[in-house]
Amino acid sequence: MMGGKLGTIWARAGHEVVFSYARSDQKLKKLARAARGKARAGTPGEAGRDVDAVLLAVHWSRLEDVLRQAGDLSGKVLVTCSLPMNADDTDLVVAHTSSGAEELARTASGARVVAAFGTVPSEVLYGVFEARRKAKKPSLVYCGDDEDAKDVAATLIRDVGFDPVDAGPLRVARYTEPFTLLIARLAYEGKGGPELAYRFERFAK
Ligand SMILES: NC(=O)c1ccc[n+]([C@@H]2O[C@H](COP(=O)([O-])OP(=O)(O)OC[C@H]3O[C@@H](n4cnc5c(N)ncnc54)[C@H](OP(=O)(O)O)[C@@H]3O)[C@@H](O)[C@H]2O)c1
Repeated sequence: MMGGKLGTIWARAGHEVVFSYARSDQKLKKLARAARGKARAGTPGEAGRDVDAVLLAVHWSRLEDVLRQAGDLSGKVLVTCSLPMNADDTDLVVAHTSSGAEELARTASGARVVAAFGTVPSEVLYGVFEARRKAKKPSLVYCGDDEDAKDVAATLIRDVGFDPVDAGPLRVARYTEPFTLLIARLAYEGKGGPELAYRFERFAK
């Protein structure tokens, strides 16, 4: 849902995209064909080779496996939307004193991790992309410890149609990850449907 949709959007925005990691290669090939643009299917190793950024969009339980398949990601910009959820997606398994993004940075040692996109439901992504030329854009918070990696992430955020909001260092994911549970509640248990984004506004005196 997240990887397929974001990859499709980035391909349509002109990026070269490699879709990887699924139980069916056919599914990845179909995604790449439907994305049009410069998109192809590949292995996680191929998705991490000679690229400007890697998006991690797997269930928390798949983290070790996908990182093992991806190989060495040191020095790579690793954008994560993956949340540290338990098996039935009812609760965070890492919180308060750490975050999924920080655990990822420890596990994928040397990767330049940026947490982004995890705060919005996949259902809103195409709508935001379609509305990208409108003046009023939804916000998207992101955080990380490497400024150059954050610049790459901010470009990818803008390409989807969001206004990137730099929330600071990676440890701020301790706040953004639980915030997502609020967004999920409003999206999936509220009345208006899951096509939900958010926007921060400042009111000058
Ligand atoms: N969905 C959302 O709205 C949303 C919003 C914010 C954050 N997130 C976070 O984003 C992450 C991804 O969520 P998602 O909803 O995009 O997940 P998803 O649609 O299930 O995608 C996960 C990918 O992992 C692959 N996969 C799963 N098990 C595998 C295995 N054993 N071997 C190989 N590939 C395997 C899936 O392939 P298959 O086709 O084989 O299943 C799929 O390509 C999660 O950490 C979630 O918490 C999701």
